[in-house]
Amino acid sequence: MIEVAGLRKCYGDFTAVDGISFTVPRGEVFGFIGPNGAGKTTTMRVLATLLEPTEGSARVAGLDVVEFSEEVKRLVGYMPDHAGVYDGLDVVEYLEFFAAAYSIPRPRRAAVIADVMDLTDLGELRHRPVSGMSKGMRQRLMLAKTLLHDPQVLILDEPAAGLDPRARIELRALLKELASMGKTILVSSHILTELADMCTSVGIVEKGRLHAAGTVASILGQLNPGRTMRLRTGDPVKAVPALRSFASVEVLDSGERWVTFRHDGEEDEIGDVVRALAICGVPVLGLEEEKADLEDLFLRLTRGEVQ
Ligand SMILES: Nc1ncnc2c1ncn2[C@@H]1O[C@H](COP(=O)(O)OP(=O)(O)O)[C@@H](O)[C@H]1O
Ligand SMILES: [Mg+2]
Repeated sequence: MIEVAGLRKCYGDFTAVDGISFTVPRGEVFGFIGPNGAGKTTTMRVLATLLEPTEGSARVAGLDVVEFSEEVKRLVGYMPDHAGVYDGLDVVEYLEFFAAAYSIPRPRRAAVIADVMDLTDLGELRHRPVSGMSKGMRQRLMLAKTLLHDPQVLILDEPAAGLDPRARIELRALLKELASMGKTILVSSHILTELADMCTSVGIVEKGRLHAAGTVASILGQLNPGRTMRLRTGDPVKAVPALRSFASVEVLDSGERWVTFRHDGEEDEIGDVVRALAICGVPVLGLEEEKADLEDLFLRLTRGEVQ
């Protein structure tokens, strides 16, 4: 549904997006994750037809965003990372204003507004002045506005920024619901944990380049082959050289009663490792797999340690 191929965008002689490619199939929630300045907003603005690529292409539903910008505009709902302020309007008036701006026919407006308010749970706030709303309410209103023309593709720039945990959970549920309605969603964040559990796949960007893309599990596998194990033992001093005698083992760290190591081999070979430890007289108190830490991986990626 979204196809970005070799996208480059320069501002003068500064390259903000440096050859990014990814695709998002229909109904997926793709998390675009990277530190500030990575080029997320620029890429999203190209997809929303607000900026033209310097090089490469972007397509929505097979339509090139430059060549078919009017059609793409109708297909895409773009929520920017900062909201304009409309003092003096309440929730319904705000939505009526944008329904008119999107040329939704007058007789249909009330029903459309009722629908989006229902979806974003704004019904009770219908007469609340926009200026007095909390950040979470405001984000829901922005999303309601983005949904007015029933876009097939949603491009949401940092929608979770500044939300409290409760509002974030509500946002996650809402994105899931929208995806289950068949909408394709591209959502950005500079904080991985904000997004990891909302997305079917993620792309990690830094300095205008995409470091990795795919499901969270596949990215971990790609960049971190093998498994991290934690051995509990009464004798780590003896355990470390015994572990090192295996070519498939890399000792990572050890402490008073434990050793962590990577095992890059078949799963059932771990039995051989345990047997070898026993033969060397290393007391094995326990052995468990440590779940790879996504946040850790993200930090390594965006520090450029993993290429
Ligand atoms: N209109 C602009 N003119 C010049 N530089 C820009 C402009 N917009 C963004 N940039 C620069 O491009 C880079 C990427 O910005 P942006 O796409 O906003 O990244 P992100 O959304 O990941 O924080 C940043 O270094 C930013 O300063
Ligand atoms: Mg941004």
